[in-house]
Amino acid sequence: MNRIRTAVIGTGFMGRVHLEALRRVESVDVVEIAATSRDKAIAAAAGFNVLNATGDWREVINDPSIDAVHVATPNASHYEITKAALTAGKHVLCEKPLAMSVAEAQELTDLVASKNLRGGLNHNLRYYPMVQQMRSMREAGAFGEILVVQGTYSQDWMLYESDWNWRVDPKVSGPSRVMADIGSHFFDMAEHVSGLKVTEVCSDLQIFCPTRKQPKGGGESFSGKLGSAGETVDTKVVTEDFGATLFRMGKARGTMTASQVSAGRKNGLVMEIYGTKGGACWRQERPEELWLGHRDAPNQILLKDPSLLDEKARGFADYPGGHAEGYPDTFKQLFRRFYASIADPSLTADYPQMADGLRQMKILDAELASHKSRAWVSVPA
Ligand SMILES: NC(=O)c1ccc[n+]([C@@H]2O[C@H](COP(=O)([O-])OP(=O)(O)OC[C@H]3O[C@@H](n4cnc5c(N)ncnc54)[C@H](O)[C@@H]3O)[C@@H](O)[C@H]2O)c1
Repeated sequence: MNRIRTAVIGTGFMGRVHLEALRRVESVDVVEIAATSRDKAIAAAAGFNVLNATGDWREVINDPSIDAVHVATPNASHYEITKAALTAGKHVLCEKPLAMSVAEAQELTDLVASKNLRGGLNHNLRYYPMVQQMRSMREAGAFGEILVVQGTYSQDWMLYESDWNWRVDPKVSGPSRVMADIGSHFFDMAEHVSGLKVTEVCSDLQIFCPTRKQPKGGGESFSGKLGSAGETVDTKVVTEDFGATLFRMGKARGTMTASQVSAGRKNGLVMEIYGTKGGACWRQERPEELWLGHRDAPNQILLKDPSLLDEKARGFADYPGGHAEGYPDTFKQLFRRFYASIADPSLTADYPQMADGLRQMKILDAELASHKSRAWVSVPA
């Protein structure tokens, strides 16, 4: 079997998580790493035993021996890098959000289709085994007709005005911070699990820190909580620290909040669905458990154990019960499916794709428009 040659662009939080997960995917070799400087790329390449390193991602694109590219850079560069890689005939696995606007996301979605390439979008959180169990049970009708979808994605790493990250800068992150960064994961999961589409939204966004102390030297994601940033500049904040969205999924109704200022919540994604026959709740901070709610019987907590999962969910749990699988495993599951679809072009892609990234951009666009107009806004199909 031919091994697939891939490259990772970006060596921050996500770049390293992608590199680790790629080592767990059979038949794939990482052959090059690109960073913002050659020295940075060389340091990462040495650690991961990768032969080639470059300070210019265009060298990756121009190398015809590379089959696929992972885009793990800040949001503003996703469009340019992904477009260049697809144009050069490479498969792309891009981090979320896919682009900075619906128009850019549409262009990339059209391009990947016209080039007949694989275009994955890293909404990896779908691939916790117990999220797949919740989905499988819903498909089997265990919850009946879905009435309510609700939850939150709450974090605390931007609570203080001294907390800074490139995500605060709209030129790098886009017109939304919290809703784009983590609200998009919520809605991707909500649609994936419920099988319903968000049709309308009513959103309220809030900035609690009107200025933040921007370090003169920059800094990678989540590094701010570990130490002082040195010299800083007071910088005006224009994107939300918190957002709340009421939403409709046809007849079903939902609510969600997304926050980077909720003290104590580290990565608190909570997904609840309630139907005419029962409900379910999954919490990312306790990923091995799925709460099952019943009206007329005691509630249950199902602990991940492949032998007890539905057949459809079982393929997302590689370890036996009691052997925890978590965040890094979701990347392995997604990447494995992405590369299987490259190895066998006849396979139907069963992972989030650029079209899913476009979908999230449309929901985000509607949320921003709703907040501005203080009214309900339809989400185009
Ligand atoms: N799927 C997830 O669970 C998840 C989690 C976190 C972040 N993300 C996404 O991943 C992306 C990266 O976020 P992060 O948290 O890793 O940020 P980060 O700041 O930790 O890392 C970004 C890295 O990209 C590098 N970079 C910037 N421009 C570059 C360029 N032109 N060429 C090469 N390298 C470049 C930076 O130097 C930095 O090392 C974002 O789009 C973010 O939304 C996804």
